[in-house]
Amino acid sequence: MYPVTRLRRLRRTPFLREMVRETEVKAADLIMPYFVCPGSGVRNPIASMPGNFQLSIDQLVEEVRDLVTNTGVRSILLFGIPEEKDETGEVACSHHAIVPRAIKALREAKLEVLIVADVCNCEYTTHGHCGTLVDGEVDNDLTVATLARQSQTLAEAGADVIAPSDMMDGRVAAIRQALDEGGFSQLPIMAYSAKFASAFYGPFRDAAESAPKFGDRSSYQMDPANSNEALREVEQDILEGADMVMVKPALSYLDVIRRVKDNFNIPIVAYNVSGEFSMVKAAAANGWIDEQRMIREILTSIKRAGADVIITYHAREFGLG
Ligand code: PBG
Repeated sequence: MYPVTRLRRLRRTPFLREMVRETEVKAADLIMPYFVCPGSGVRNPIASMPGNFQLSIDQLVEEVRDLVTNTGVRSILLFGIPEEKDETGEVACSHHAIVPRAIKALREAKLEVLIVADVCNCEYTTHGHCGTLVDGEVDNDLTVATLARQSQTLAEAGADVIAPSDMMDGRVAAIRQALDEGGFSQLPIMAYSAKFASAFYGPFRDAAESAPKFGDRSSYQMDPANSNEALREVEQDILEGADMVMVKPALSYLDVIRRVKDNFNIPIVAYNVSGEFSMVKAAAANGWIDEQRMIREILTSIKRAGADVIITYHAREFGLG
């Protein structure tokens, strides 16, 4: 007890503080998302996500080359903006679809990068929902079948990790089976397990052109009020064969990350989503905050909560230091 105990003693110098620091974010913990679009020479700025672009495949290759050469970030997450959409997202199951082509180009460029492929239908459906509609509702089992085919295509193109973000029931098991049957039993699944129906996805939907044309995603993504249910989602995905589980968004759900950490022994990914990123950028543009300090504090809090890996649009600038 004070005065014998004085907690300030270990805060007095930078060396002491560094010695007792409990949490450290490294560039290698981070995954940088990219949006790939048709065409060539395209770098279309995303207004609500400053510093992010819709990139054609040639530009994506150059961006990723710069990332792995200059930042220490080794992993990317790919989203596609297709030439054409259809009713079911079947367009994404073709080898000529935008993301499989991008993955092949990255492989041909021999970049040393871990490619995580997001699996979902919302970017590929005319209505913007994450699956196949039957009587105005997203049909779970029809959707799962398309997700399994999309996953197999991404694996064949050369993806390193398959990351389903759709929130259908049973999709991890179906994807695992499709991958195994296709000869990809070694390919890990990063499941978006506890994905909440969140207002923080707003800027992403501009970037990916994936906003639902009617209604919202509350019948498949989770209610932000629930964390017991998040543990059930995580448990289901682990039982179905997920190799990593994700909590998304991150900042308003740090308690969920911590509960998952305390209850399961599996790598945890947190997604520091577009709205979380854009709020920081907007405040910084107004000169209201110290941006670099705030980014470090945010990423540290996510790791401290229990995340092992963080998907973040700040990855590149964090890696540049
Ligand atoms: C696709 C998907 C979304 C995000 C990642 N994958 C959007 C959504 O569910 O509407 C959001 C990512 C972000 O906001 O940064 N289903």
